[in-house]
Amino acid sequence: MSVVVRTLCVEDYAPIIRVLNDWWGGRHMSDMLPKLFFEHFGATSLAAEVDGVLAGFLMGFLSPADPGQAYIHFVGVDPALRGLGVGRVLYERFFEIARKARCDVVRCVTSPVNVSSIAFHQRMGFVPLPGDAVNSGGTPFHSDYDGPGEHRVLLSMSL
Ligand SMILES: CC(C)(COP(=O)(O)OP(=O)(O)OC[C@H]1O[C@@H](n2cnc3c(N)ncnc32)[C@H](O)[C@@H]1OP(=O)(O)O)[C@@H](O)C(=O)NCCC(=O)NCCS
Repeated sequence: MSVVVRTLCVEDYAPIIRVLNDWWGGRHMSDMLPKLFFEHFGATSLAAEVDGVLAGFLMGFLSPADPGQAYIHFVGVDPALRGLGVGRVLYERFFEIARKARCDVVRCVTSPVNVSSIAFHQRMGFVPLPGDAVNSGGTPFHSDYDGPGEHRVLLSMSL
């Protein structure tokens, strides 16, 4: 399978939003990915294509608050193409972008119930930061991090 990776542009918003909730197993995610991300962070965000068709995407940016930090807001891979290395390709390309910008850490957050995401990130070298609670798998998380009931695992990786 040949995966082509390119940066995102605003025209990618509609096709990604169309599949987003399905790719997250029916969870309502589209409110968390408004078009402004495509308008402002396209240059540090990526699409993966297989035979010219969207196979995955990564929405990431360099932190304006901390010049040493890059942040991944979203990553998603077509369910039919999971486990084939598409997520790894997207992350490794983003790490290159972050290194070139002299970042030394990549951060992201995920839900404590998203055990696949936690496993993927740990495999990619991320470690969960200490929190105030642990999920059933023993992963620490921050309660109410993104508002009431919106718990998050905070993940960090040194470049
Ligand atoms: C998480 C996600 C992006 C992973 O993409 P993917 O293309 O399937 O991942 P890859 O095939 O590149 O896997 C990379 C590594 O992670 C591991 N991995 C991926 N998913 C895993 C899982 N569910 N459990 C354990 N390990 C996993 C792979 O074994 C692989 O390890 P290796 O390269 O050392 O052999 C994909 O499952 C997805 O889109 N999930 C739904 C959206 C989501 O939850 N996104 C994250 C939160 S924003």
